[in-house]
Amino acid sequence: MKLSIIVSAAGLVGYASGMACPYHLLKRAGLLGADVVEKFDQLKDNPELAERFIQAQNHPGHQKRDTLIGPRDTSGNLDLPLGGGLLNGHLQPLTGLLSGFLLPTPQLPGLKEIPGDDPDHQFQPPGPHDVRGTCPASNALANYGYLNRSGITTFAEVADAFQTGFGFGFDLSVFLSGLALLAGGDLLTGTYSIGGADARVPNTLGPAPGMSSHGVFEIDGSITREDTYFGNNANFILQRWDEYVEIANRNGGQFGWETNGEDNGYRYDLSRETNPEFYAGALWFAVSHAERVFVWEGFANGTDQNADWNNIAPFFLNETFPPNWYRRGTPFSIPQAFGEAGLLFLSNPRILGGNEGSVDNFVPLPSAVNFTQLAGNPAELGCWLVENILDVAPGQVRGAIRENFDLYQGFLKGVILPFFTDDGFFNCNFTGFFEPGNSEGEEPALGLSSDGSPVNGAYPGIGVIKPHSEPS
Ligand code: HEM
Ligand SMILES: *[C@@H]1O[C@H](CO)[C@@H](O)[C@H](O)[C@H]1NC(C)=O
Ligand SMILES: *[C@@H]1O[C@H](CO)[C@@H](O)[C@H](O)[C@H]1NC(C)=O
Ligand SMILES: *[C@@H]1O[C@H](CO)[C@@H](O)[C@H](O)[C@H]1NC(C)=O
Ligand SMILES: *[C@@H]1O[C@H](CO)[C@@H](O)[C@H](O)[C@H]1NC(C)=O
Ligand SMILES: *[C@@H]1O[C@H](CO)[C@@H](O)[C@H](O)[C@H]1NC(C)=O
Repeated sequence: MKLSIIVSAAGLVGYASGMACPYHLLKRAGLLGADVVEKFDQLKDNPELAERFIQAQNHPGHQKRDTLIGPRDTSGNLDLPLGGGLLNGHLQPLTGLLSGFLLPTPQLPGLKEIPGDDPDHQFQPPGPHDVRGTCPASNALANYGYLNRSGITTFAEVADAFQTGFGFGFDLSVFLSGLALLAGGDLLTGTYSIGGADARVPNTLGPAPGMSSHGVFEIDGSITREDTYFGNNANFILQRWDEYVEIANRNGGQFGWETNGEDNGYRYDLSRETNPEFYAGALWFAVSHAERVFVWEGFANGTDQNADWNNIAPFFLNETFPPNWYRRGTPFSIPQAFGEAGLLFLSNPRILGGNEGSVDNFVPLPSAVNFTQLAGNPAELGCWLVENILDVAPGQVRGAIRENFDLYQGFLKGVILPFFTDDGFFNCNFTGFFEPGNSEGEEPALGLSSDGSPVNGAYPGIGVIKPHSEPS
């Protein structure tokens, strides 16, 4: 029951500022079950339910708990083989081989001008040895020194920087940075590159391909980036951006819900028609929708969540913060991210699967999972994704993970799973914990350190692709 309330509320809060309510669009399209719609209507008329959502939005579940929170084994005992867990909202130290591991800490939330006049965080374009990758938000953080300007960073630095720079919650920032570390970093030192493989990242457990390496956290059909099949996946494709702007212009100049639903379907269709290796599996489902939700929840001006050209374009075209830009005032949390990502999928769904060698040979994912059902239940969706983090793409699990599974499992249990345990929203049962999927033993292709992501001045003709009319 709680789940449906939060699904509804995530939509309500996200679109409160003048955008069409996704619930009504989805209801009309017959995509939402009666129970969810009913909860939404209740929420609108019921301040007490709305209040409960505001609590969930701030996600206080873990913050005030003075007992250790973490996954449990079949006997109900805490299962934290390498330490960790959450106490009073803070991650606890790791032990054993991970005892030197630096952990992120909760940062002060609240509306704030970024970078403001902070002398340590002014723009400097990346130098010749600095790497940038597929994520415009990470690239911007590095351009302002919230991350190491080299683009070689750490799990803790990224998780802290997303709280500071974008007002994302501690939970979501830790979760995303944890995924990046798993996808491409060196676990023992917590180091990773925000681009591709890089000699400055130690390889203590095996090759570290970087956050932008394809197939783990990097997907086909990205907003502006090239599919890996066609070249460097960090390459910014101006035509994709222009088409994105075109769609936004038809949606009140906002890079919000409607724009991203339409553009996401369009990108899927084009990639499926042209890329013989197009693959939209479970990670596409999560990443493609989440990165789009982040556009209007993360790049918008925090004073009014305005996601217009002036606020969105500098991130994509310039990898700079817009002038006079404010980060969001309330932290954006994991439950909200899953809630909105699921709804975005439902607004313009596509079949999961991949092309096997040719564009005429699309093979749907043989799935025991009903994604339409899952997308409407963010708590279930979150548990399912986390349970399957290492299992969703057999053959893509890195050798380092397979060969040091206890270490990786210790990290996941101590640092990631506590956010999905026992917090009043997620109550995932991790006793049947995953093993890495069977692998053919190949390493994923290494990502490239990018020379293709846009930097200041790369697109001097920026003015010509402004919206035709000023958004209302
Ligand atoms: C620790 C936090 C984060 C990590 C590790 C991360 C990582 C990534 C990765 C690996 C991609 C590539 C996915 C793809 O192939 O399409 C990506 C794309 C993207 N990310 Fe992030 N991300 C993080 C947080 C954010 C936040 C907070 C925002 C917005 C405020 C954001 C905005 C985007 C956007 C818009 C894209 C799509 C880029 C494009 O295709 O043009 N990310 N991110
Ligand atoms: C930034 O990264 C570089 C390259 O890995 C490293 O040499 C340097 O010590 C880092 N700086 C800080 C302040 O961590
Ligand atoms: C790009 O960044 C530079 C340096 O901060 C700034 O002067 C310029 O106005 C930015 N352009 C856009 C479109 O944000
Ligand atoms: C963000 O909002 C503030 C306050 O309303 C405003 O002064 C500023 O111009 C806005 N920034 C952008 C880039 O629209
Ligand atoms: C998947 O779930 C949706 C929504 O619950 C339902 O309408 C649909 O029939 C299900 N599809 C399959 C193949 O079971
Ligand atoms: C958790 O899942 C296991 C099987 O993986 C099951 O035996 C157990 O009863 C479940 N626990 C709860 C509380 O549902």
